[in-house]
Amino acid sequence: MRVGVIGAGGMGRVHCIQYAKMEDVDLYIYDRNREWADNFAEAFEAEVCGTYSELVREVDIVDICIPTHLHCEAALLAMEAGCHVVSEKPLASSSEECQNMIDGAKQHGVKLMPAQVVRYFAEHEAAHNAIKSGAVGKPASVRLRRGGTTPIGSSEWFTKLDKSGGVLLDVAVHDMDWLLWTIGPVKTVYARSIRWNGAVRDDSFRGDYASVTFTHENGCISNIEATWLDPLGFHAGIEVSGSEGSLEFFHRDNPPLKLSQDGQPASVGRPNLPTDDPYYRELRAFVDAVKNDTDPPIMGDEGKAAVELALASLESAKTGQAVHL
Ligand SMILES: NC(=O)c1ccc[n+]([C@@H]2O[C@H](COP(=O)([O-])OP(=O)(O)OC[C@H]3O[C@@H](n4cnc5c(N)ncnc54)[C@H](O)[C@@H]3O)[C@@H](O)[C@H]2O)c1
Repeated sequence: MRVGVIGAGGMGRVHCIQYAKMEDVDLYIYDRNREWADNFAEAFEAEVCGTYSELVREVDIVDICIPTHLHCEAALLAMEAGCHVVSEKPLASSSEECQNMIDGAKQHGVKLMPAQVVRYFAEHEAAHNAIKSGAVGKPASVRLRRGGTTPIGSSEWFTKLDKSGGVLLDVAVHDMDWLLWTIGPVKTVYARSIRWNGAVRDDSFRGDYASVTFTHENGCISNIEATWLDPLGFHAGIEVSGSEGSLEFFHRDNPPLKLSQDGQPASVGRPNLPTDDPYYRELRAFVDAVKNDTDPPIMGDEGKAAVELALASLESAKTGQAVHL
């Protein structure tokens, strides 16, 4: 497989580390900053391409690791050249762009996968499997937390809300995808955000914080807190209560994942968790789907649904009104 990564920034590095472990992958890299691409080529034994057109001519798979507002255009150019596409989350900046990517894949007969990597994080995957197998009974409430400090990125694009969407589109989209995957469709969205409807309106302010409450079609109520204002750095957590048990995960705890049933601690202190890097497992799954001509494990529609939930949350934050889907 020839895989071409566009973007030699933070996530491009994470992805190249994984491809470099795959013996059946030849790696290509393109970045608008030639020096960064050259550095990656040296570090990961990749071929550098001088233009994006050259990259898409050379490879079977394009892996999109550039800022979110540029995903759709890059994906469509890759698909027109016959390349399969895996794109960093969020799939794109708008529902229309996501749909264009889904349509493009269909039209050109190629595969598209949104890289919703949280599905491959061991405890999030174990929590999903436990809930799906009925370990907590009928889920009644879910609380998800994620965040850290404000990311800098290569050009401060994260802090430009029109480019990144702030914490709701950039950070909470991970948990929105997990919720749709684990709990199911959402009926109502209500969000508050310090950047959109709260105390902070100044563009020079770099942090962000938002809280969203969803009512799911099955009656479960969930809440996501997303922040770029935690000076202690990255954190992620899950709390689920159901008719027959509860589940708790906070990644700074040891053990991080705890299950209780009938008020008593139950089996998973640390379940049999897959140890491979989640980014490795995610990208390997896409390469295998291309090699074996099967559907990717995460479909374009699912990436679009998570983006739509984030955009509904942004709308609610801006208007102060609940959004009914
Ligand atoms: N899955 C995760 O855990 C995770 C974490 C962080 C970021 N992301 C996502 O990954 C994507 C990239 O984020 P990042 O942190 O790597 O950003 P970054 O700013 O660190 O890197 C972006 C790279 O893209 C390059 N670039 C920008 N425009 C380009 C263009 N037109 N053509 C070629 N190269 C271009 C830049 O030079 C830079 O090297 C975003 O969509 C972001 O939301 C995902």
